[in-house]
Amino acid sequence: MITYRLLRYGLCMGWVMAALASVRAGAPAVLPESGARRVIHVGTEHAVYDLYVGPDSRLYNLRFGSQEIPALQTEGSGGGSLTEAYPPSGTRYAFEPALSIIHADGNNSTDLEFVGEQAGSPSPGVKETRIKLRDPVYPVDVELVFRAYAGFDVIEQSSEIRHTEPGAIVLERFASSSPQMTGDLWLTQFHGDWANEMNPLSERLSPGIKVLDSKTLVRADRFRPPFFLLGVGAAVREAAGETWAGMLDWSGSFQFAFDDNGLGATRLLAGINPYGQAYRLDPGVLFATPVMRWAWSDQGVGQLSRNLHRWIRRYALRDGDRPRAVLLNNWEATGFAFDEGKIVSLFDRAKDLGMELFLLDDGWFGTRFPRNDDTQGLGDWSVNPAKLPRGISHLADEARNRGLRFGIWIEPEMVNPRSELYLAHPDWVIREPGRALELQRNQLVLDLTRPAVAQYESGVIDTLLRDNPGVSYVKWDSNRYVTQPGSSWLPKDRQSNLGIDYVRALDGLMAEVEKRHPAVEMMLCSGGGGRVDLGTLKHFDEFWPSDNTDPLRRVVMQWDYSTFFPALAISGHVTHSGGRSIKFALDVAMSARMGIDLDLSKLTPEESRQAAVAVEVYKDKLRDVVQFGDLYRMESPHSGPRSVIDYVSQDKSRAAMFVFQVADGAPDAVRPGGLDPQAKYRLSELDLGEGGVPAMPQLGSVISGTDLAATGIIPTVHKAISSQVVWLERVD
Ligand code: GLA
Repeated sequence: MITYRLLRYGLCMGWVMAALASVRAGAPAVLPESGARRVIHVGTEHAVYDLYVGPDSRLYNLRFGSQEIPALQTEGSGGGSLTEAYPPSGTRYAFEPALSIIHADGNNSTDLEFVGEQAGSPSPGVKETRIKLRDPVYPVDVELVFRAYAGFDVIEQSSEIRHTEPGAIVLERFASSSPQMTGDLWLTQFHGDWANEMNPLSERLSPGIKVLDSKTLVRADRFRPPFFLLGVGAAVREAAGETWAGMLDWSGSFQFAFDDNGLGATRLLAGINPYGQAYRLDPGVLFATPVMRWAWSDQGVGQLSRNLHRWIRRYALRDGDRPRAVLLNNWEATGFAFDEGKIVSLFDRAKDLGMELFLLDDGWFGTRFPRNDDTQGLGDWSVNPAKLPRGISHLADEARNRGLRFGIWIEPEMVNPRSELYLAHPDWVIREPGRALELQRNQLVLDLTRPAVAQYESGVIDTLLRDNPGVSYVKWDSNRYVTQPGSSWLPKDRQSNLGIDYVRALDGLMAEVEKRHPAVEMMLCSGGGGRVDLGTLKHFDEFWPSDNTDPLRRVVMQWDYSTFFPALAISGHVTHSGGRSIKFALDVAMSARMGIDLDLSKLTPEESRQAAVAVEVYKDKLRDVVQFGDLYRMESPHSGPRSVIDYVSQDKSRAAMFVFQVADGAPDAVRPGGLDPQAKYRLSELDLGEGGVPAMPQLGSVISGTDLAATGIIPTVHKAISSQVVWLERVD
């Protein structure tokens, strides 16, 4: 049963006055420790997040990670401190607020007092803390919800906002989380664009506000994803230093604001982007913010990533413990230009190579407006009889006859104006009346807040999967973002609710598909990595990181994605992009969830042979270690001529070390991380029999974990753009 402990403290005037006196003397005041204060621990044993209730009944930040936050206060702040845990706007607080409300009577200020807290454990190893705050004047309640995952050093935070005012209120800011830190902080963001995702950039934070955000509502990660790193005291390092990662579970516009008040504290505000999204909230309706996730390590980003990978496999991804299949995709190979005969011939080749799943990409649908390019057909999800006269089920049967599973591409949220759907329902799209339609990739976004649209999209997916039970894999794409954010469904005074209501409706739709079709695996795509938040990924098995498939670029991109995501979630497909050798392209794909996107009939016999060996090696040896092992990033392609990563099985009996030479040079030894120092390992190379590269001197040797970590292994590839994969197996 829930019991809220009501705690009230009397205001200690001497205590506040002493603080104000020191402000007048020039420096920000530091409030003295109060014996009466009540500390609430919402983090894990290591990833500490402590809050306290002050003598004024307000909730304050106390500690985030190793840092204690001084209780800063400025003159004229009415007794309030600069370190409130969830600062409301208009009362006391003069910096970026976490919550801002226009009340039903037009008043713009909000105040929040501590009401009580409640702790519980929803599942073993998980601690949940709920802290209840209330405005002393208005009937507005805010509940801060924290979950701490002990074995992973992961903390989640979200807010639940409710009111019973006589009419709707307008939420103008609604952060999910707003901890504070002090001192020297280094931010690493990952900016980019289509086909150029995940470019890391680190900078030292300084007084003022640094904002990383997205304003595109849908496909919201087009220019940056909703995650970042923070280094404490220095820029983030791989194997040392206190490091935080922040990740927001939200597929719409997001905002991270790093507000250094110049007085000794930097607030990390994270949540839905309030820009253009003032939210009208009716009385009695719950407004729950998305979860902001914090992961922590004091041993650098390497350990943080390993914790996060395990956490994501266990709690975030669909079926995070199920091995991912080796897949053949036809997009790069055929584009829209295929027919039944072509696809079936690819099945034959896929079977010869030992592949497990075939994914039929864009272009299979549209009758009146056949989808033969991207100008038409989107929205009309019936098979194009000119291309596939015997339908999808026939193809799925043909695939099954060759031992392959079968999957299809869909983009259910979008429509081309040249489609039967648009002609029948021009009012179903997001647009603003009176303005000319703005197209991206010749398409528009369907207004999912309209129930008939949600029903239509859900019906399309259901019918496809019911009528074609042979389909066991779906790639869900989304290729444009929102401009002219108008809905002909939402009332005039709720137009700015659109972005938030869209994401909620989308989440509902994805959850429904997941529930109704538990056996169908899902790939998340948005013109590449345009939608890679964990809130969406929980309905998916993996994601398509980028339409840039040049393996040289993928080495770097996979390195950066691996900061956050485990390899089994990152689809890596071999293509001809960049004109690299097939050996290099295969090795890069094998360091992620392996797939191939080539017209296999056009491979030379030697390329086919290497591809077949790679598929066999991946299934036989690498898959288990890459998809479920711990990742050690040893040498960064950002700072040297090669990328060296190694995956170590959980029991440390096997390891795969990938050496990707991205430029000429570096003949020195590479040192595998994460091995058991006491164990002895036999070394072999997982080569594809490609020839031309001398054998590594230590091949076949048995070497202890200690010696391998000390002296390493000397690769024999030194030239850009080449690769080697070393296999280490414990001998007992
Ligand atoms: C997007 C995806 C590609 C492919 C095309 C099909 O660009 O990222 O992988 O599916 O759409 O139109």
